[in-house]
Amino acid sequence: MNLQVKKIAVLTSGGDAPGMNAAIRAVVRACAYYSIDCFGVYRGYQGLIEGDFKQMNARSVHNIINKGGTILKSARSQEFRTKEGRKKAYENLMENEIDALILIGGDGTFTGGMVFNKEFNFPVVGIPGTIDNDIYGTNFTIGFDTALNTVVDALDKIRDTASSHNRLFLVEVMGRDAGFIALNSGVGAGAEEILIPEEDLGLDRLLLSLERSRRSGKSSSIVVVSEGDKTGDNVFELAAYIEKNLALYEVRVSVLGHMQRGGSPSCFDRVLASRMGVKSVELLIDGNSNIMVGIDDNKMVTIPLEKAVKGKHTINKELLRMSDILSV
Ligand code: F6P
Repeated sequence: MNLQVKKIAVLTSGGDAPGMNAAIRAVVRACAYYSIDCFGVYRGYQGLIEGDFKQMNARSVHNIINKGGTILKSARSQEFRTKEGRKKAYENLMENEIDALILIGGDGTFTGGMVFNKEFNFPVVGIPGTIDNDIYGTNFTIGFDTALNTVVDALDKIRDTASSHNRLFLVEVMGRDAGFIALNSGVGAGAEEILIPEEDLGLDRLLLSLERSRRSGKSSSIVVVSEGDKTGDNVFELAAYIEKNLALYEVRVSVLGHMQRGGSPSCFDRVLASRMGVKSVELLIDGNSNIMVGIDDNKMVTIPLEKAVKGKHTINKELLRMSDILSV
């Protein structure tokens, strides 16, 4: 046990994700268990710069494991991109005699943490929290499973009305420039087509495949489109193009948007977040820093922040091939 760590601060940053509260709860409770003081930092790095801290104890995080969002709020801080901003943040941590920082967020969060660690040699540990699942070094990020269930539920509902009206629906889902949500939810909801940025199969192939589905007797179709997909300029242009070139369907569009970021976290995300929260505290106690906690083959692993930020979590092309077979 490294007795250097007596006070830990925790923050959430970037796009929020269901399960972040479970991770905060695990960090605070693990600190209480190991008799380490814990401070919550509000509004991510901006709160760090403004000294928006609040000491937390085991009771501060009661009844939040099941709550979506983050009680510590999140924000994107331009000021933290400046050396002056990071210096203010460092001074606030020193003033509060805080020894280490736990960062719950995505690659943008970890990039900031890595720079901060290098500039001030201040111990940081990252916990991957984003619905996009696009972080290298972990099979899953906190929030991904809940977002998948939210999207599959929405697709099932859209399937009902698509079938009633013999329509083709384009459903846009989040994921920024990664297709993990689209691919997994598309397979889970039995979508006829799944368009992701990692695989541009082109408009002609899309039309041919939709025509094949129609000719095989499908009276309606669902195309899941990842927001980062480049097949069309945007999902509305794509809908207009399909309607113009494929007279078989009436086409409608649904953009699921930010509802994918909310909701009570799934049990999977609660367990993942709890494991990552406890592990991050224990890593700091053991003197580790500048690393991210991940899960691989259901085991807790660590990866240097630099690798997590620079690496690319590759999509499972097998799923894509399988979805093609199943949409015959
Ligand atoms: O990174 C999570 C995410 O939801 C992405 O999927 C999406 O593109 C982005 O955040 C939206 O950002 P904002 O909440 O700032 O609109």
